[in-house]
Amino acid sequence: MFMKVKNICCIGAGYVGGPTMTVIADKCPHIKVNVVDINQNRIDLWNSKDLNFLPIFEPGLDQIVKRCRGKNLFFSTEIEKHIALADMVFISVNTPTKKKGIGAGQASDLKWVEICARQVSKYAVGHTIVIEKSTLPVRTAEVIKTILESQDIQNKKQKTFDVLSNPEFLAEGTAVNDLISPDRVLIGGESDSAIKSLKDIYQNWVPENKILQTNIWSSELAKLTANAFLAQRISSINSIGALCESTGADVREVARAIGTDTRIGSKFLDSGPGFGGSCFKKDILNLVYLSNYFGLPEVANFWEGVVRFNKWHQHRISKLVVKKLFGTVSEKKVAILGFSFKANTNDTRESAAIQICRDLLAEGAELLIHDPKVIEKQIELDLGEQAINNHKNINESDSKVIKSGWEKCDKIDQCFKNVDAALILTEWKEYSEINWELASKSMRHPAWVFDARSIVNPEDVRNANLNLWRVGDGS
Ligand code: NAD
Ligand code: UDX
Repeated sequence: MFMKVKNICCIGAGYVGGPTMTVIADKCPHIKVNVVDINQNRIDLWNSKDLNFLPIFEPGLDQIVKRCRGKNLFFSTEIEKHIALADMVFISVNTPTKKKGIGAGQASDLKWVEICARQVSKYAVGHTIVIEKSTLPVRTAEVIKTILESQDIQNKKQKTFDVLSNPEFLAEGTAVNDLISPDRVLIGGESDSAIKSLKDIYQNWVPENKILQTNIWSSELAKLTANAFLAQRISSINSIGALCESTGADVREVARAIGTDTRIGSKFLDSGPGFGGSCFKKDILNLVYLSNYFGLPEVANFWEGVVRFNKWHQHRISKLVVKKLFGTVSEKKVAILGFSFKANTNDTRESAAIQICRDLLAEGAELLIHDPKVIEKQIELDLGEQAINNHKNINESDSKVIKSGWEKCDKIDQCFKNVDAALILTEWKEYSEINWELASKSMRHPAWVFDARSIVNPEDVRNANLNLWRVGDGS
């Protein structure tokens, strides 16, 4: 039976749950949207009066939160209550790679999804449509349905459930735009009425021809495949970039030349410091695990190569910095420009900057780190112990920089004082506007600019008496 949804509960107020539900609330004023989370601090931040303190930075998000919060959009930790009130429950919790046990290092840890399914099973009232929003391995819907229905039998209450897969394709930094104008919305499931209910929500702003319907397993697999294909493109172009550097070619020119072939297309061909973010590595490793599980080791090896290459590429950049700085960075200062995994987000998960900074710290460098949105505490968590341990051995009693190995600079110009090199790792717009003439005056010469994002004007850098390395530039 078609259900006109009036009340949504989304479990998980993270990078997906927060923005997705905010846009649904904005586009569907007739629906009450409750976003719930076990993390009280995160919920408090979503409710903060000053919109600068929202837990997630996404361009344009704060204004939509302002419009809807307290009207039909609510953030709370009252999980049980809002499950009970909901016609539709979105599961949007984290599904990281398993750290131990069977499939450790590859399979997704579904612990949090299972907890949610049990909670929904226990507290739901009447008929509830359960939506998999998290990225999940193929056939997880079956597990969710089994859990939902087993509780139902135990309680002998009048509860019924439909389970749909509705993976999210938003990219961080452009989440609002991706949600408002998606390339497609994918719905996988068996129940026509449940699909119709979910479609009815999206149709408030998404044209019908962009809402794709598949069986539930195809939908789950399509999400993993999309991320695997995108990540593979980045490893492909980065591999060609390395070859360009050795052969005198320029990866930007090669990308332009191949991108005009409509079969290849021009997007996602920017060579950089290697892909980061919470999804690509995790989802490919999940695909690797599934392939091995289903007896397809050649398929697994094919995809694992994409992740292996990415790691090699990140180390390649740190090694290259050391090599250009006369083979040692010990006690040399290096400015790190950008710590988030891409521009316009405060997310650092799997950021190439983490691996590259760790490598440089291990070589004894002192890092001056700038990022417009990443807070110092986050960098501390990402580099933390390793940075401190490395540098304790060097000089116990010296300055803060030497003790911890790194220091956060609030302003870009603070980063250049006495550094031997500036390494651009995130494509924040402000780094393309740096006055290199001025920066050069503060640096220790001979000094280098390493541009892993191709955002500087090469002439400006060279005219400022600085050496320049650009990713994939062998010209
Ligand atoms: P996240 O870590 O930012 O947020 C997940 C939230 O779920 C956390 O706040 C956590 O406290 C909460 N949570 C966990 N267990 C809970 C429970 N039992 N009850 C209530 N809350 C609980 O993660 P995310 O980046 O939003 O990703 C969520 C899912 O979406 C993952 O499966 C991810 O692969 C997928 N995804 C992420 C992106 C992205 O760009 N980040 C894009 C598409 C899909
Ligand atoms: C990705 C997918 O794009 C999105 O559809 C999915 O829902 C979640 O995972 P996200 O990780 O947020 O999104 O950002 P994305 O723009 O895909 O960038 C991922 C990484 O690849 C970043 O580190 C980015 O800098 C890098 N990248 C991207 C490149 O190095 N070159 C490119 O041309 C594009």
